[in-house]
Formats: sequence, C-alpha cells, structure tokens
Amino acid sequence: MTRGLFITLEGPDGSGKSTIAPLVFAMLKDRGYDVILTREPGGVKIAEAIRSIILDPQNTAMDAKTEALLYAAARRQHLIEKIIPALNEGKIVLCERFVDSSLAYQGYGRQIGFDDIWTINKFAIADHMPDLTIYFDIDEKTGLERIRKNRTAIDRLDSESLHFHTLVHEGYKEVLRTFKERIRIVDASRSVDEVKESVFDAIRSFCDQRRS
Ligand code: TMP
Repeated sequence: MTRGLFITLEGPDGSGKSTIAPLVFAMLKDRGYDVILTREPGGVKIAEAIRSIILDPQNTAMDAKTEALLYAAARRQHLIEKIIPALNEGKIVLCERFVDSSLAYQGYGRQIGFDDIWTINKFAIADHMPDLTIYFDIDEKTGLERIRKNRTAIDRLDSESLHFHTLVHEGYKEVLRTFKERIRIVDASRSVDEVKESVFDAIRSFCDQRRS
C-alpha cells in the first residue's frame, strides 16, 4: 500500500483553522478521499491530557522550556499513536498545527530560539515532516480581535500580550522562509466560504499531483 499524505494547517490564533478544518474535512470525505482530521496539541488521550496542562490558565508558573518540551512530548505521542498508523494505512491525515507552531510560538513567541526548538522537535519527530502545509495568513490584531469576539473561554496562550502574538507572526515568517517548498499561503482574512474553497483547492491539487 502506498503511504498516505500528511497535511497540516498552520497559522496564528484567530486565523480560522478550527472553523475551516471540519468543513474541508467534510468536502474531502464527500469526494471520496480517505481522510482523518486531528489536532495538536492533542489528538490522542495522553496528548489531550498534556494539552489541558499546557493551556490551563491557572498554570502561570510554567517555564517556557517546560512548555516547549510538553508540546514536543504531546506531538511525539500523537505521531506514534495516530498519525504514522494512519499514513501507513494510506490515509490523508489533516492535522491542525504541528512542528511549525512550536517554531513560531516557543521559538519566537517565548524567545527560546528557532534552532533549539528545532533540535528538541527533531528528537520527537525524527524525519516525519508534513508533505504539505496550508498557512492561514492573517495579521495579529485581526486574529486576536476574532478570538476575543468569538470565544467564551480564553486559554493561557490566547491571553498573552499583543507583543507575544507579534513575535509569533515573526516566527511564522521565518517558518515560511525556511520551508517554502512545502507551504501554501491562503489569505485567511476573507469569508469562511472563500477560505474553505482555497484550502480545499490547494489540498485537492496537491493530492491529484501526487497521484499522477
Ligand atoms: P489551538 O488554539 O490551535 O487549539 O492551539 C492551542 C494553543 O497552543 C495556541 O495558542 C497555539 C499554541 N501552540 C503552541 O504554542 N505550540 C505548539 O507547538 C502548538 C501545537 C500549539
């Protein structure tokens, strides 16, 4: 059996990934693609437990490197338990966030540095990188306004300062420069329907290209 495709959705908070992901997942399924939808941090029981520790607003004492290691630990468990088995079964794995989030948030937002975050994540994931990444492009102010308007519960990272989110955007720019061959950029400031269509088109053309 041929290996499936690993596709990640990336972008800052409030860029609309969580709204678009289930819509695109349903479109792919309707058209006969064998696809699963998952997310980070989380996706499997152990990683969801780590997620609740990381995002708990009470955990104000958490050290930045502890946070980075917890994200990497959750990622490894998710990869081993869910992503790799699904890819081995030939499925498309559509995953909200992966290593690029750690590079942007912990590498830049927490200012640990791109190289150190890359090193711990290389240990966690070895060479299991996404085949395609869709980047939801939005400016940080619009992203944060969206979160504050739409969410009832704000987690520990949402509640960081605008400066933190500006650094995260800088981090994503570095990610876009470093991994440009694997990343397609989508303008996420448009309507849900427009963004959904763009994301679907990007995924479909990538899958069709791979198949031919
Ligand atoms: P979510 O809101 O997309 O579910 O993600 C939860 C938060 O975790 C979000 O603020 C981004 C952050 N995050 C990191 O800081 N590093 C990571 O590696 C991942 C996967 C998420």
